[in-house]
Amino acid sequence: MTAEIASLAIVVLAAGKGTRMKSATHKVLHPIAGRPMLEHLLASAAELAPGAQVVVAGHGREQLEKALAGRAAIAVQDPQLGTGHAVQMAQGALAGLDPATPVLILYGDVPFVAPDTMRAMVARLLAEDAPAVVVLGFTPQDTLQYGRVIAEGGRVLKMVEHKDASEAERACGLCNSGLMAARAGDLFALLARVGNDNAQGEYYLTDIVNIANADGRACAVVVTADEHEVMGINSRGELAIAEARWQQRRRAAAMADGATLVAPETVWFSWDTVLGRDVLVEPNVWFGPGAVVADGVTIHAFCHIEGARIAPGAEVGPYARLRPGAVIGGKAKVGNFVEIKNATMGEGAKANHLSYIGDAEVGAHANIGAGTITCNYDGYFKHKTVIGERAFIGSNSALIAPVKIGADAIVAAGSAVSRDVAAGELRLVRAEQLVKPGWADQFHDAMRRKKAEKKG
Ligand code: UD1
Ligand code: MG
Repeated sequence: MTAEIASLAIVVLAAGKGTRMKSATHKVLHPIAGRPMLEHLLASAAELAPGAQVVVAGHGREQLEKALAGRAAIAVQDPQLGTGHAVQMAQGALAGLDPATPVLILYGDVPFVAPDTMRAMVARLLAEDAPAVVVLGFTPQDTLQYGRVIAEGGRVLKMVEHKDASEAERACGLCNSGLMAARAGDLFALLARVGNDNAQGEYYLTDIVNIANADGRACAVVVTADEHEVMGINSRGELAIAEARWQQRRRAAAMADGATLVAPETVWFSWDTVLGRDVLVEPNVWFGPGAVVADGVTIHAFCHIEGARIAPGAEVGPYARLRPGAVIGGKAKVGNFVEIKNATMGEGAKANHLSYIGDAEVGAHANIGAGTITCNYDGYFKHKTVIGERAFIGSNSALIAPVKIGADAIVAAGSAVSRDVAAGELRLVRAEQLVKPGWADQFHDAMRRKKAEKKG
């Protein structure tokens, strides 16, 4: 794909092997808050409305092709000869760009760079003094694994990798995040002059700064104060750290927006969780993707909620599981050990204990008794259960779908209902009761006598 002339182009480097992840899944596709890290990064970049996006892929590129589904061009880097070489591989995909177009270089495994930081880099590049390259610097606690940015007054004098640095250079605390911006024309002209005569025998992207400097052109550094913003994710341990940081921020945002989290550190959100105001979330609740919770909802402890919409004033849990397609109406109640999948609970409807409601419509104010199961699957196909308004389903009933229960109907406890129930009907599907007054007393007497005889 050749890009249109664009106001901004994004190049995402993702050709590294990701060895430390020890995974069959491409590193940048590992999820944080239920969303692949690459998607977090592309979503932030999208705020700058780039006209062209290229992802540089090596190992596992088929996975990236599938995940991106044409949303970005893919440039192949094989073999991987360094970050400079990686960016060069994007040149073909960006061939149509105006040379003056800014290109922002991002790392697929550094997913939480803020859109404002990206904007600051592009703005610095487009400033009046027109630096050739803008580097994103930061000052980490531990500088060991980073290249250094030797700078003075915001101007970069030299970029040097840790392995190539002198003692004096290593003492410099300003490090290279790896992210850079340069105009397309400058970028590829400079890259063409980068060699690999260094400690690692690689084509360093950082060398474009040194070459520009040698040409007498200034390069600038933008510094981010937050080292976590440019934290790379290389291992499962770092993935967990990134997840924890993301969750911490999301919990704070939820509370700032008017939700009460009784024990915030025990509530886990997805990237797209929507919470209304005056939502109360008790401890140990997990939100998978696609959860939308309206105002005034209470979620009791230990719930697992994914792909579900919960309307105002509803109460869920404790120990409820809402699966994709669950729609809980206003003031409805879903109690302990109730699982709801692809089913609508009408306004004020109740399923308070031990139920499975799948592929169903439950009318407003219907009452689903304890232990009720919708038998929605015959081993081959899924079938639907429709329950009318105000219907009362007695405890431990099995509703064998497809089946309809009319409004105001009563299904007696313990019924296995396989045929439709009309509105207002009582349906009782169980054996006639045998009533034998005194039978138990006679039985006990006889047995006790027998036992006494045996002992004697
Ligand atoms: C790079 C920087 C270093 C910086 C550090 C920040 C260079 C020469 N060095 O070093 O100054 O402090 O990042 O983390 O740029 N990649 C490819 N193809 C390659 C090599 C790398 O796509 O051939 C990608 C990787 O997938 C990764 C990123 O580029 O997303 C950085 O690669 P990495 O090997 O971690 O670079 P460092 O040596 O750490
Ligand atoms: Mg690295």
